[in-house]
Amino acid sequence: PIIYAVTPTYWRYVQKAELTRISQTLQLVPNVHWIVIEDSEEKTDLVRNLILESKLIATHLNAKTPPFEQIKDKDPRWKRHRGVEQRNMALAWLRENLQLNKDKGVVYFMDDDNTYNIKLFTEIGKVKKVGVWPVGLVGGLNAETPILDSTTDMAGFAINLDLILAKHEAVFSYAMEKGLQESEFLSYFTTKEELEPLADNCTKVYVWHTRTEKPVVNGIVQGLEV
Ligand code: UGA
Ligand code: MN
Repeated sequence: PIIYAVTPTYWRYVQKAELTRISQTLQLVPNVHWIVIEDSEEKTDLVRNLILESKLIATHLNAKTPPFEQIKDKDPRWKRHRGVEQRNMALAWLRENLQLNKDKGVVYFMDDDNTYNIKLFTEIGKVKKVGVWPVGLVGGLNAETPILDSTTDMAGFAINLDLILAKHEAVFSYAMEKGLQESEFLSYFTTKEELEPLADNCTKVYVWHTRTEKPVVNGIVQGLEV
């Protein structure tokens, strides 16, 4: 099947470095279609050129996250979700451009800053409905595994395209509670019992929730494409 890798991205100094890393990972994977959604008013040349240079089959979209809307009932644990607008844009693109019972594939939400072992994509290829696997360095743990924990990180599951295309109402929302966004989204498609444990019955870690330190940039070198 084709793996539809959905990557939200936004401008910051490390963006090009992150996208270089992820695009070169994807170049090692057969049969991927990379969907890159910029959190911006307009598509940028930086991302456009990077996609072109990758030679990957790709779709370039943009969807700007609306300005933060203060919720009335102030919950201190509440923090704005990231990537919501962008992932929903990708879902809309898939539903508009692909056909149920004709196009076959698996959809995987791939942050631009995580670290992916290419073995993960072999596992994603095995997904029948919804596949799950552990994610390293997340939730205050060395790894989170769906076998033991009730929550799943965004990087810890992939969904058959048929389900995405059949369930038009399934979207991400800001209202979903922090940390439960993934489980809530999955509940549109499957039950806990039905989840398919992959990566050696969820004993192997093939993806890590890494975050890149924000660099200190005090000066700008003109005439350099960074
Ligand atoms: C964690 C999860 O790994 C994300 O999948 C989840 O969306 C996020 O929590 C959440 O809070 O909702 P985290 O490392 O905290 O991720 O978030 P980022 O990596 O900063 O953002 C997730 C994705 O959204 C990235 O691909 C990033 O490029 C993108 N993003 C982030 C935007 O498009 N716009 C932003 O303003 C921030
Ligand atoms: Mn991240």
